[in-house]
Amino acid sequence: MQHFEIVGGNRLKGVVPISGAKNASLPIMAASILVDGETILHNVPDLADVRHLQVLLGRLGVKSQRDDSGAMHLRVEDEMNTHAEYELVSKMRASVCVMGPLLAKRKRAQVSMPGGCAIGDRPIDMHIQGLCALGAEFEFVNGDVLLRNKKLTGADIFLGGPFGSSVTATANVLMAATLADGRTIIESAACEPEIVDLANYLNACGARIAGQGTPQLTIEGVSSLTGTEHRIIPDRIEVGTFMIAAALTNGELELQGAQFEHIRAIVDRLRQVGVIVERAEKGLIVSSSRRLEPVQITTQPYPGFPTDLQAQAMALLCLADGNSMITEKVFPDRFLHVGELNRMGAHLRKAGPTVMIEGVKRLVGAPVMASDLRASAALVLAALIAKGTTQVQRVYHIDRGYETIERKLAAVGANIRRVQD
Ligand code: UD1
Repeated sequence: MQHFEIVGGNRLKGVVPISGAKNASLPIMAASILVDGETILHNVPDLADVRHLQVLLGRLGVKSQRDDSGAMHLRVEDEMNTHAEYELVSKMRASVCVMGPLLAKRKRAQVSMPGGCAIGDRPIDMHIQGLCALGAEFEFVNGDVLLRNKKLTGADIFLGGPFGSSVTATANVLMAATLADGRTIIESAACEPEIVDLANYLNACGARIAGQGTPQLTIEGVSSLTGTEHRIIPDRIEVGTFMIAAALTNGELELQGAQFEHIRAIVDRLRQVGVIVERAEKGLIVSSSRRLEPVQITTQPYPGFPTDLQAQAMALLCLADGNSMITEKVFPDRFLHVGELNRMGAHLRKAGPTVMIEGVKRLVGAPVMASDLRASAALVLAALIAKGTTQVQRVYHIDRGYETIERKLAAVGANIRRVQD
């Protein structure tokens, strides 16, 4: 196993190139199951989750490879297999995104139930409910969800759950509906930019989707989709993470490729904290040179503050001048980083889905354990400003979602290195 060794205290300054969005790449790669001919995707980040999905797609008969420019080429070569097995699905929840495409294109999808993970129970009832509304028959077989259909038919579907919309359930139902007979309307659809990117990709393949970016999606079914070339949007969570890195270290970072329109809620909260965010020709410039103000943050589905930046925002507010509060409304159990930040000298107290944050003057380096992708990013951020050395163990979590984070941080002045245990 590997860990990061980080010596805190350096001010970050320079240019950070922002990678393509993981959460846009994964469903779009899965959507290639629906498509006849070749899909070429530009800006797919080189991440463990992406490589993992390539393995799963390979088992499902989709050949994928990168060319010299880094573009990913995907093409269906064999449509026989419709089973995403536990061994692969249990390693990455987003594997569930193959369910809608398999069902629509191959009339059968057998996908292992992903199970819980470090951030909560994470059921998939909304995925199943939406696909059944299109006409699929559903049963459980040995811990797998088995969906079958002779014909999918457009339907009016309400996809709101106890915590609002679901991103991957929207993706699954949207993908399946592209090849259904007639019109589908999805109400309470996820509005995330990654869903817009998926819809734009599918439309370029010949789908007829309208309303992307709003809670109502209308899909007129078509008989087939054809391969296309598409560029993945920049990763707004990576953007937010580097914005917080600049703020914590009183630094100045130019985030090349960052798209302002995708991160309004993040900009709003960070400006309240006292961070300066300016648009630049190629992205954003983020800087901070004064004490951080405390704020209140509530995570919500897009366009609200993203749950995927909750942990990183908490690392920032640990050093604010006063008391802050974060309430998690998407994954109410997503707080494994609280104990680890407290080991670094933070004053955090959890009460249900809320964490009270009493700002401290400094954090101190310590050995800490990454528990999930975004919690590990929070620990790396805290380490950048902590006094002394921090070892962040289990960095494989961070490799799932951040492309060469240590190289990007080191290039702008951080003292961070990857160490083999
Ligand atoms: C996606 C993102 C993940 C992000 C999350 C919320 C991908 C690959 N992953 O995950 O990074 O943290 O959105 O922005 O895009 N729920 C149900 N039933 C369901 C599905 C979801 O109750 O069938 C609940 C979840 O437990 C959660 C909430 O709905 O409380 C939102 O989850 P959802 O949007 O589905 O998250 P994912 O799509 O899994």
